[in-house]
Amino acid sequence: MVRKLRAGDVELALHDQGSGPPILFVHGFPLDHSMWRGQLAASPLAGRFRLIAPDLRGFGSSSVTPGTVGMHEMADDLAALLDTLQIREPVVFVGLSMGGYVAWRFWERHAHRVRALVLCDTRSAPDTPEAAQGRRQFAASVLAEGTAPVATAMLPKLFAEQTATRQPEIVQAMEDVIVRTAPEGIAAALRGMAERPDATPLLATIRVPTLVLVGEHDAISPPAEMRKIADGIAGAQFVEVPDAGHMAPLENAAAVNAALVNFLEAPV
Ligand code: MLT
Repeated sequence: MVRKLRAGDVELALHDQGSGPPILFVHGFPLDHSMWRGQLAASPLAGRFRLIAPDLRGFGSSSVTPGTVGMHEMADDLAALLDTLQIREPVVFVGLSMGGYVAWRFWERHAHRVRALVLCDTRSAPDTPEAAQGRRQFAASVLAEGTAPVATAMLPKLFAEQTATRQPEIVQAMEDVIVRTAPEGIAAALRGMAERPDATPLLATIRVPTLVLVGEHDAISPPAEMRKIADGIAGAQFVEVPDAGHMAPLENAAAVNAALVNFLEAPV
């Protein structure tokens, strides 16, 4: 079900399943579409929606462009992908973490293509100057040393502590994804995230149904920070997902799917 399609000046790999109102699932850093495995295949969403989960530029099996890839460029890639798929109707845009950073820019640049927003385990604030500098150094070290140290650095932050013992297979699967990712793709996204603008001013402009969802143990985008995001968006729903960290849709797919079905059945 994974195929590759041209999207503007790149080729994007995507999982594309079923028919119905389209849901676009946009993965986090430094992963690929397979982080949405609990929402694809035989989930309660299957058969009711068209489930589209691309690999962003630089990740998975998509084209890699070295240098810096901004969140706005990834957003434009996704709009071009929808053009290629001839999807004209607005989509439900589901973005996790870096996928959420892309969601802000997609909203800013392609709002007419958004039917609803689901913001998972993400942030609206930009990097501090120190964090941005840390990302640039991280980019240089990935290019010098490869991806294994990226997995070592990222995995403990991505998952709740109990996930490593209760569901070691999903941690292993994401480690395999990270190690296989092109260092140039990781470095380009790190530089892009370092220069991403503050998305907080956009919150008040969001006029579509929005669900804000966070793992209760998320150490990167903690529940208190995500609640503030929800408070800034008119009418947004806020759901805290139990037994999950930053990778809530993967760690507790049942709870996330229930929240998605509940949200999608009501307003969209
Ligand atoms: C992600 O999961 O996409 C990353 O944690 C985002 C980030 O590094 O800010």
